[in-house]
Amino acid sequence: MMHFIDSDIAEVVANLGERAHAFAGKTILMTGARGFLGRNFTEVFAYLNEHVLEKPCTVVGFDNLITAGAFGEKDVERPNMRFVQHDVIKPLEWDGPLDYLIHAAGIASPYYYRAFPLETLDVAITGTRNMLELATKHRARFTFFSSSEIYGDPDAQHVPTPESYRGNVACRGPRACYDESKRVGETLCHVFHEKHGTATTAIRPFNVFGPGMQEADYRVLPNFASSIKADRELTVYGAGTQTRTFCYISDALTGFLLTVLFGVEGEVYNIGNPTPEVSIKDLIRRIEGVIGRPVKQKLIEYPDSYPADEPLRRCPDIRKARLQLKYEPKVDLDEGLRRFFQWTDRHYTGAL
Ligand SMILES: NC(=O)c1ccc[n+]([C@@H]2O[C@H](COP(=O)([O-])OP(=O)(O)OC[C@H]3O[C@@H](n4cnc5c(N)ncnc54)[C@H](O)[C@@H]3O)[C@@H](O)[C@H]2O)c1
Repeated sequence: MMHFIDSDIAEVVANLGERAHAFAGKTILMTGARGFLGRNFTEVFAYLNEHVLEKPCTVVGFDNLITAGAFGEKDVERPNMRFVQHDVIKPLEWDGPLDYLIHAAGIASPYYYRAFPLETLDVAITGTRNMLELATKHRARFTFFSSSEIYGDPDAQHVPTPESYRGNVACRGPRACYDESKRVGETLCHVFHEKHGTATTAIRPFNVFGPGMQEADYRVLPNFASSIKADRELTVYGAGTQTRTFCYISDALTGFLLTVLFGVEGEVYNIGNPTPEVSIKDLIRRIEGVIGRPVKQKLIEYPDSYPADEPLRRCPDIRKARLQLKYEPKVDLDEGLRRFFQWTDRHYTGAL
């Protein structure tokens, strides 16, 4: 089963162009390697080794598989790539070379961080601390996957939200384990940069979607795709007026890799696609357009398994990444939805 689309991976590599050569001969450690983003990163590095780099890069992935699910359990053997099952809450021994450390381990879906609040805190705080120690020891560039959720629920004045916005976050709410621990993770990056000169960057992704998302991921698009596959009605939490922007995986990966390579040390970058900002109801209308038929839907109260007080609006200001990284999302929402729903139609079962 393919958890990605070949042409998406080729698109990322084409977007990077000559800049990808910076990975030649380098060693990259990646945590969360079996998650949605980690598996897609792996495909890009495999493609670079096969088609672009004269001297291959070496990639070592780590994951404790807590939320990796069925897609993440399988080991795909590849030259210059290996996987180690490891919980990053425990220190990681690594004596080999190390050029880039990408810390993408995390518990990202609201459904799972509600189920595993302590693990969510630990991976973003203790896990980040451990990985920063390792990067510092090896003088490696370190990239932390933070989240747009660190902004909490911004007021209208701060939407689109720039990196300088300090956030409106509850420390005791149902989302606090995720939002607050990502904030501390960023603080750790800042402290290591200031105190030890560690080359840290942090990324705040805004709702990335695409092939490779588990059917049981429980984020909005996999939920909808599973229901559509089974011809069930789509369940919309609340009134469906909350807005989001969605960034297709090939654009997001391009932005992530540009940050890994060229992010200014000590800095943080929003990576997402600022247009269009759509309500969940609008999103459903677009999905209907893409799949070419109407879908049934029902509005329900937030279930207990889903953390309420979700942000009303979420939209990135990406001027900093545009200016400093030359990042520019290219895949518009309808095109991304078309690719995603074609893929889910082949790979989802409809059994959530
Ligand atoms: N995908 C998005 O839109 C998005 C948005 C904002 C932030 N992020 C962040 O980006 C990172 C990757 O996101 P994703 O979408 O791939 O999530 P994912 O849940 O698909 O993957 C995360 C992976 O981390 C692993 N993991 C969790 N705790 C671990 C631990 N203690 N030790 C080792 N591995 C551990 C899980 O098993 C999983 O395979 C996460 O840190 C997430 O918080 C993602």
